[in-house]
Amino acid sequence: MEKINRIGKIFNKIYYKIFIENFKEHLDYNFPTDFFRWDLIDYLIKKNVYSNYLEIGCDKDQLFSKVNIKNKIGVDPSNGGNVRKTSNEFFFDNKKFFDIVFIDGLHEYEQVKKDIINSLKFLNQNGVVLVHDCMPDSLGKQAVPRYKMQWNGDVWKAIVDLRQDKNLEIFTCSIDQGIGIIKKKKNTSILNLNKPIKKLKFKDYFYNYKEYMRVISITEFKNLF
Ligand SMILES: C[S@@+](CC[C@H](N)C(=O)[O-])C[C@H]1O[C@@H](n2cnc3c(N)ncnc32)[C@H](O)[C@@H]1O
Repeated sequence: MEKINRIGKIFNKIYYKIFIENFKEHLDYNFPTDFFRWDLIDYLIKKNVYSNYLEIGCDKDQLFSKVNIKNKIGVDPSNGGNVRKTSNEFFFDNKKFFDIVFIDGLHEYEQVKKDIINSLKFLNQNGVVLVHDCMPDSLGKQAVPRYKMQWNGDVWKAIVDLRQDKNLEIFTCSIDQGIGIIKKKKNTSILNLNKPIKKLKFKDYFYNYKEYMRVISITEFKNLF
């Protein structure tokens, strides 16, 4: 977990609220308490008989240690996994292909988008890319620069951006901080955004997240995948 000191947090909070956005509403998603990221991954591995897993950002292996699969690679520059690199360094000379990739590294829009695009380059046919932390409940949880301990970052913007791609089918499952699910196939519901990604604010997310993210429940997820 990235470390920021108390003074840095206070500075970032003031900076964010003055120069970027100050919006006070909160969302209450009521995420299920009996189905988490490892359950969704286990479901997909068993259903599709997947054998190659990649995790970007492993921390204390809370997830990595629970993934039961033939081959797994966990990339993290500081903790956990089994490859001590940043995701960019890993993809630079990677030659392996994966059935399932879980992206949970640096939670900033540009990096998440890069991680998704790189993962798609090394995805087997019928593979899936998952993205953690897609559903922040408040301004602070998604603010970049970061000022909160509990932080989703602006991962949501990478999903909104790629929801405009006609060759990517994307949903967001409403569990465990929101999990983006990306497949390389025709987009059956292209998002038409009326402003550039760089101009998107949390307020836009607050009022439009169901459409922006194409949010689905576990039941819908199991019917679709
Ligand atoms: C939220 S934690 C991951 C949690 C873990 N995936 C889980 O499900 O419990 C984020 C991790 O991403 C790592 N990280 C930060 N920047 C990264 C980067 N550029 N590439 C890969 N990992 C990164 C951090 O070191 C941290 O351990």
